[in-house]
Amino acid sequence: MTKFNFDLTINRLNTGQIKYDYARYDKPLDAIPMWVADMDFKAPPEVLESLKKTVEHGVFGYSEPGASYWTALLNWYKTRFDWDIQKNWAITVPGVVFALGAAIRATARKGEGVLFCQPVYYPFEKIIRSNNRKPVISELKLINGKYEVDFEDFENKIKQNNVKTFILCSPHNPVSRVWNKQELANMGEICLKHNVKIISDEIHCDFVYAGHKHTVMATIKEQFAYNTITCISPTKTFNFANLHNASMIISNESLHGAVQQECLKTGYSNPSGLGLIAAQAAYRYGTAWLEELLIYLQGNIKLLKQSMDDINCGISLINPEGTYLMWLDCRTLKLTDKELENFFLTKAKIWLNCGSIFGLGGSGFMRMNIACPRATLDIAMQNLKEAAKTLS
Ligand SMILES: Cc1ncc(COP(=O)(O)O)c(C=O)c1O
Repeated sequence: MTKFNFDLTINRLNTGQIKYDYARYDKPLDAIPMWVADMDFKAPPEVLESLKKTVEHGVFGYSEPGASYWTALLNWYKTRFDWDIQKNWAITVPGVVFALGAAIRATARKGEGVLFCQPVYYPFEKIIRSNNRKPVISELKLINGKYEVDFEDFENKIKQNNVKTFILCSPHNPVSRVWNKQELANMGEICLKHNVKIISDEIHCDFVYAGHKHTVMATIKEQFAYNTITCISPTKTFNFANLHNASMIISNESLHGAVQQECLKTGYSNPSGLGLIAAQAAYRYGTAWLEELLIYLQGNIKLLKQSMDDINCGISLINPEGTYLMWLDCRTLKLTDKELENFFLTKAKIWLNCGSIFGLGGSGFMRMNIACPRATLDIAMQNLKEAAKTLS
């Protein structure tokens, strides 16, 4: 018996939420939105209840994280990742991209190199550039259907480009890899050797599928913890992106101070009260909801795999180890990126992210968000099946 209804289709039009409304004029109205990384599901009932109570109270004054917020957050990471966070290591921020900006400014000076592996979540490059740091890219290698870090290239890029900071995406959006402990240790050791600080974006850490395990970079060894700024957030896991709540966890005191300074310079101080309330309820009561969600998402992945086999038009799915963002290899279709995007939008009537926006190695791929009711995914697959008939 399932307790939560992920099959429920919720009309998200005219909510001001970008997945359905933003730039809608620019996309065919009948294209199913499967692009930006939020889910078509309601947040857990306890989150909704605690938000309702706050709204009914009716006063929305400046807020601060309280003792029960910290207990809930610390317990979540201890229970799920065996990570002992101390409250004074945390800096509360409005979002992970905000955190990336502050962490970049604190660890690299203008013109200095910031390394990351592409294809990756495109704001990495944008935020490095907008802070006038130098983007340094090590391209992931696709070997036998699995993405891997090219450690030789990774280290060479550090040596050749005055790199001070590495931004890790773990699990990795969009290639859906859950880096194993050895891979993380290799990256961590190279960074230590060259005195490169790590910003570890672990926002997708709760989306890990059977047979894989997320390891928090900072838990591998003390020196890694000392060298790392970990970015976490409940907003992806529990689907409340617009409530703006995230944390940076930094056990190294001087690094913590430098990052805090960069946050303060932006003028940001008190976090969103609604974000804190939602986060506390989610971390405290959200386990059962998340466990069921993960099963549901794996059901969607199964449907996607079966449909791709059935359609058999040359598009193949990179095996997802984590995240709800699927990486579709469409290279054998031999379409340009524009043609590929148009094929999905106008023929298959599915609104996806074009792989090329994720940088090097993204061309010829599409990213599909499968965090939707199964019926929606099923329609998308039927659409694709029809559209595939038009491919020569
Ligand atoms: C890897 C990664 N980092 C950060 C974010 C966004 O985080 P936030 O909304 O907290 O800025 C996303 C959203 O998709 C993401 O995939």
